[in-house]
Amino acid sequence: MATGVASDLLRTKSLERLNADAEGGEHGLQRTLGPWSLIGLGIGAVIGAGLFSLTGIAAAEHAGPAVVISFAIAAVGCAFAGMCYSELAGMIPVAGSAYTYAYATMGEFVAWIIGWDLVLEYAVGAATVSVSWSQYVTRFLHQLGVDLPARLVHSPFETYTLADGTMAHGLVNLPAIFIIVAASSLLMVGISESAKVNAVIVMIKLAVVAVVIGLGAFYVKAQNYVPFIPENTGTFGEYGWSGIMRAAGVVFFAYIGFDAVSTAAQEAKNPQRNMMIGILGSLAICTVIYILFAGVLTGLVHYDAMKGDGAPVNTAIGQTPFPWLKSLVTLGVIAGFSTVILVLLLGQSRVFYTMSQDRLLPGLFSKIHPTWKTPYRSNLFFMVFTGVLGGFLPISQLGHMTSIGTLLAFILVCLGVLILRRTQPEAKRAYRTPLVPLVPILGILTCLAMMVSLDGETWLRLLIWLAIGLAIYFGWSRAHSRIGREEAGKAV
Ligand code: ALA
Repeated sequence: MATGVASDLLRTKSLERLNADAEGGEHGLQRTLGPWSLIGLGIGAVIGAGLFSLTGIAAAEHAGPAVVISFAIAAVGCAFAGMCYSELAGMIPVAGSAYTYAYATMGEFVAWIIGWDLVLEYAVGAATVSVSWSQYVTRFLHQLGVDLPARLVHSPFETYTLADGTMAHGLVNLPAIFIIVAASSLLMVGISESAKVNAVIVMIKLAVVAVVIGLGAFYVKAQNYVPFIPENTGTFGEYGWSGIMRAAGVVFFAYIGFDAVSTAAQEAKNPQRNMMIGILGSLAICTVIYILFAGVLTGLVHYDAMKGDGAPVNTAIGQTPFPWLKSLVTLGVIAGFSTVILVLLLGQSRVFYTMSQDRLLPGLFSKIHPTWKTPYRSNLFFMVFTGVLGGFLPISQLGHMTSIGTLLAFILVCLGVLILRRTQPEAKRAYRTPLVPLVPILGILTCLAMMVSLDGETWLRLLIWLAIGLAIYFGWSRAHSRIGREEAGKAV
């Protein structure tokens, strides 16, 4: 029996089978996305809470002005993984992304783990950003003189201060639920509609970031860059090179999302070529923007002064003669966060769509709407799931879960390239990761280093999440697996 279990866990899905399944005919997803839409989706998912909220924290607490080096290190790690994603997404243009690559290379069990793990990146990531979105919207409305009732913008786990100085608990974070419902509704209606709305908002977001960098650069003070790498305090992660590494682990969150492009592989025109353009193009554009943005921010405000500052970007703008920029930036941030939520929820529904087609999850996740051609039930499910997370749970502390989950996925994708180069050396690859095995190995090592730099509690939460996933796999998925049932000659 032990051999039976082992062979179940290791069963793989062949490349031919994967590609055949992806061509779902009239009942499947539609190939409508060109290279610009894909780059737009990448930038849409990437630039968000990480850039606007974490840059200041990473500089103040870990790296000082050298946070620009941290951004570069995180970008290098992402570039290694991004090249591996591009190779696999072009070879296996299926909506499941890392989950599917693992199914083709490491077997069903690892595939399940990674599919389950991707919930941390996509659904938990979207919920985390929905809470930041809510905070910015509340602040923006306050500036306009509109105050939403405090108990309706805080989850039951959050507290706020009443006028008489006492503390009260929130009831529900309604704006967080609102943005999740709005993004999910758009996703249900259509992929090209979603991509169009995303493209418009991405342009607004890029314009705002360009204005901050372009105008801010003139008011940078050289003394704010001194010391460029503050001396380590004696504690790992507090300045010095260990601080730069810790900050790289923190700002890694800002890069999350470029890989979501790969979940649109089944909806991309000419995926063999366009996947690489979408993944690496969006990553390259965001890297340049991030390094410039971090350089300007730490040049406008000394990193020490950013400690405990909830809105360092606003403080930085306060150093320029253009205070009106603050409202513009807030609007840009609100717009920016909404596309992050949109594209992460898109990625989530597509991964579960593929897992459901493989019958590792129930059929509801792969039911395609006859007119909209989207997995609308999956969108509905994640609207409720993510809405509950964002509206009622203390999700804002869980941003690190998204990072650790994504890093694990990146490592397995790099491993997938190494394995497929050995097992399928002749398979057609429109894009080849350069310098294999060096690049995938460096990708694995950089991502591992960033994982190790995250705290023990995050690791514990990851293990608990994976344990829940194991219970579902052994309780349901293993017995229902389409490949498994086909191999055993049972009805699917
Ligand atoms: N990269 C995304 C953000 O920073 C998740 O919001």
